[in-house]
Amino acid sequence: MTPARPGRRRFLKIAGVTVVVGGSGWGANWLSVYSDHQISNVGKLKFRNRLRVPELLDPKPSGDGRKQYTLKLAEGTSELLPGKKTKTWGANGPYLAPTIRARRGDKVSMTVHNGLPDATTLHWHGMHLPPAMDGGPHQMIERDGTWKPQWTVHQPACTLWYHPHPHGSTAGHVYRGIAGMIILDDEHSTGAPLPSRYGVDDLPLVIQDKNFHDDGSLDFGESSFFDTIAGMDPLGILGDTIIVNGTYDPYFHVTTTRVRLRLLNGSNARVYQLGFPDERTFHLVAAENGLLPRPRPLTRLQLGPGERAEIVVECKPGEQAVLRSFAPDLGIGFPTDRFHGGDDTFDILALRAAKTLRPSPALPTRFAGAPAPIKVPNDAKVRKFHFVGTQINGKSMDINRVDEVVAAGATEIWEIDRGDGTLHSFHVHGATFNVLDVDGEQPPEEARGPKDTVYLPESGKVRLAVRFDTLTDDRVPYMYHCHVLRHEDDGMMGQFLVVAPDAVDRAPRTIEGSHGGSGHH
Ligand code: C2O
Ligand code: CU
Ligand code: CU
Repeated sequence: MTPARPGRRRFLKIAGVTVVVGGSGWGANWLSVYSDHQISNVGKLKFRNRLRVPELLDPKPSGDGRKQYTLKLAEGTSELLPGKKTKTWGANGPYLAPTIRARRGDKVSMTVHNGLPDATTLHWHGMHLPPAMDGGPHQMIERDGTWKPQWTVHQPACTLWYHPHPHGSTAGHVYRGIAGMIILDDEHSTGAPLPSRYGVDDLPLVIQDKNFHDDGSLDFGESSFFDTIAGMDPLGILGDTIIVNGTYDPYFHVTTTRVRLRLLNGSNARVYQLGFPDERTFHLVAAENGLLPRPRPLTRLQLGPGERAEIVVECKPGEQAVLRSFAPDLGIGFPTDRFHGGDDTFDILALRAAKTLRPSPALPTRFAGAPAPIKVPNDAKVRKFHFVGTQINGKSMDINRVDEVVAAGATEIWEIDRGDGTLHSFHVHGATFNVLDVDGEQPPEEARGPKDTVYLPESGKVRLAVRFDTLTDDRVPYMYHCHVLRHEDDGMMGQFLVVAPDAVDRAPRTIEGSHGGSGHH
């Protein structure tokens, strides 16, 4: 995007030459580089384009009482920037993927056809399902292959998402555009007084940052120059251009007094701190894996890569409210934070309210049926995970190694600590957690979850109460990993089996090949 990133490329080249030529000019150039790395689009947007809303994927009933969804992954051409053509990937369309909606108790069956030029997978992030259906790196779908996972939805209402997960190339596949929302409903969410008309007052927002070349093509250039200079590990893509649901410079036409935003940080590495320039209060109503016990008034909400949240925003007739990402609190010191997006500010979306608004239901004081806090037994197993660089506990991902074996249905304490000054976001598959404490202190209610992904705080430790599902498989593992996709691809990932409690000791510690992928149907 030309307006948003003035001459960054050129400057990198100049700075590069200076480094080679001699040290004297370096300090001054470093300062320029430093100031050049504070990115903002505030004041540059006009909110000209109507927000795209991903279509709701219509399930077809199948003979065996399942809801049958069909997803076709393919390359396409999108107009992400006005007047420019971008080669993208998408499911059932050129960019992103339709929203999948299902209800607790539904038996779902997916048909995923891979029409992409590369083998890939499709992972249902946050879904509780058998590991062979999870769409992780073991369930590869070859080019032109078809994968047909099925499972029964058995978790509380929430907002999940889906995206590719091929080992070593997740970042590129997601960045090209394969990502979609999943909305799960249950009797509690349906009965709750929350805005719930999809695309009208209940909106999915897939927030992503991109870099574009002048011809409109996606720029895969990464932050390697500074990584090398500062001796940091690569962070991957930090884009200077925000798109929401694939829409650049977007506005949404609000017709009700309240709108519910289902927020997804679908970016490869960027952290957002969402709020409104007028400091209005909005309410957080759900975390990643379910409703909160009660709506929480907030003026800022930080989302790390892979995190989601549902908020309800109140609008006045005729106004325009701008959802903005303020400089996030990365817990990374000066000056490194700036190169991780720590000083960046972005307008995300304008909510443009009609002159007259239909009244929405008032928020309740409590949500009946919100998932209860996870109870931690006194003898809960404690596991420790040390995140440094692109390794966990000093190890890189090995697709044939089982790192952990967990007893089905167990609640464990997972202690994650970030041992370096960079950005990591922890995610575990097939499980739900509460954040018990951050650096020894219990976080505010709105930050406890239920969650499946959490941004790792400064220096110290986050302790999670993780409740595992009861679905067992002694051959196919689930994943846990950093959701900074470049880190995941570089090996910041581990695998765990969930087995019957009496089978933990004899569970295999190595696994072979690919399981449950398209070759197995
Ligand atoms: Cu969103 Cu293992 O991924
Ligand atoms: Cu996941
Ligand atoms: Cu990381």
